[in-house]
Amino acid sequence: MASGRVEPAYCRGSHTLVVSMAMFKQNRQRLCERLHKNNKVPKGAVILLQGGEADTRYCSDHEPLFRQESFFHWMFGVEEPDFYGAVEVDTGKTMLFAPKLPAEYAVWMGKLLTEDDFKVRYEVDEVYFIPEIAKVLKEKSPSVLLTLRGLNTDSGKYSREAAFDGISEFKVNNEVLHPEISECRVFKSDMELEVLRYANRVSSEAHKEVMRNVKPGMYEYQMESMFHHYCYFQGGLRHLSYTCICGSGDNASVLHYGHAGAPNSKQLHDGDMCLLDMGGEYYCYASDITCSYPCNGKFTEKQKGIYNAVFKASRAVMAAVKPGVSWVDMHLLAERVQLEELAKLGLIQGDIEEMMKVRLGAVFMPHGLGHFMGIDTHDVGGYPEGTERINEAGLRSLRTSRTLEHRMVLTIEPGLYFINVLLDQALANPEQARFMCQEVIEQYRGFGGVRIEDDIAVTEDGMECLTVVPRTVEEIEQLMAEGEGHKVTLPQEAGKPSV
Ligand code: GLY
Ligand code: MN
Ligand code: MN
Repeated sequence: MASGRVEPAYCRGSHTLVVSMAMFKQNRQRLCERLHKNNKVPKGAVILLQGGEADTRYCSDHEPLFRQESFFHWMFGVEEPDFYGAVEVDTGKTMLFAPKLPAEYAVWMGKLLTEDDFKVRYEVDEVYFIPEIAKVLKEKSPSVLLTLRGLNTDSGKYSREAAFDGISEFKVNNEVLHPEISECRVFKSDMELEVLRYANRVSSEAHKEVMRNVKPGMYEYQMESMFHHYCYFQGGLRHLSYTCICGSGDNASVLHYGHAGAPNSKQLHDGDMCLLDMGGEYYCYASDITCSYPCNGKFTEKQKGIYNAVFKASRAVMAAVKPGVSWVDMHLLAERVQLEELAKLGLIQGDIEEMMKVRLGAVFMPHGLGHFMGIDTHDVGGYPEGTERINEAGLRSLRTSRTLEHRMVLTIEPGLYFINVLLDQALANPEQARFMCQEVIEQYRGFGGVRIEDDIAVTEDGMECLTVVPRTVEEIEQLMAEGEGHKVTLPQEAGKPSV
């Protein structure tokens, strides 16, 4: 008989995905199973993580919206800041330690939750307030506390290791946990894949909404705004996975355009190519999608040529991806296809293998083919101990050099860019310049760039594409034409506001 009890879950209304807390329980089980096999972990070990902390903007009391630290999220799914979490490795028994807020906070924050409220919300075995953490852990008499310290190979930063008053009375090991939990995060469970599919589905639809509405005269930030609104309004995606990159014209050649110093502020001119790299996250699970198209909805022959070269590389990689394939080989495959297509378009000439040796592909695609994606856009686990970064142009930007395995999730994001500084360097380097048709290349300066970025999950014998957006020139032009006649009215069309 049904108990009538509602299973603890995250959702943002019946139109959004329901994520059961069982997903985090399973994550913890997977981690404990790995640790059971690790001979450096004694019986009686307890994992201890410290969650993300609430912060204020500089010296003000303004609190930016909190987003949970990624390892802590993977383990517990806790939405609030300033928690600790602990797991007994032998039994999987899970404890949360919540911040003890003063009673008067109820006025500002709403009803303060009790230990039992948190226990039900996050479906854990025990909940205490943080002032009790030393006493509670002492009673458990752990043989060792496993804390998290390790390098993020993308940022070069170290994870925040748990610390509390009284930790010096415990035996602590901060080396074992990081590689094990990172390795767990590399392989997505069925439930995690479902969340990633959802974030991708909503973000794909948001990209389509922008595609239908874009028109010359609009500003780059208005595309960013439409994307974010759609993600949140339709899908409950409050956070975006990263700052939107909305480059138009030459800005499309700036790989991480959109930052505070280049804030998506240019107006779109008729004929500009746009490169829109935007992804929303749902319950901290990311999407990372790039669409490239002309803002007027009609590709020129030149734009079509470059777009199709990148598209061919994307689909060649997708056809080759399966367990056992090296990601470095996939990068080289994309480069080779793009060089062949650039040769057909007359921008370069000569023997493709010789071009590969002098790393000509990296002049036009200086970034890596793609990266792991999960709770972080650039997810952890790219370079576990024993794997090396290849120190060659383009390849050194790869965020992983691993061999693909079932349940890895990655982006496939080949691109071609006309970046003046790289073109000038290559033209000044006789080894590379001998392949470059300078007169033709000069005609592409200011073109910007094209990136096509899809998110994929490696399956048992191939891959599943999580991203669903129009990809061929014809599909894009058709969708953009559908928007004609009923695009949004821009505020700037109403004339200049006066003061
Ligand atoms: N959006 C950042 C990236 O594609 O890696
Ligand atoms: Mn991206
Ligand atoms: Mn990416």
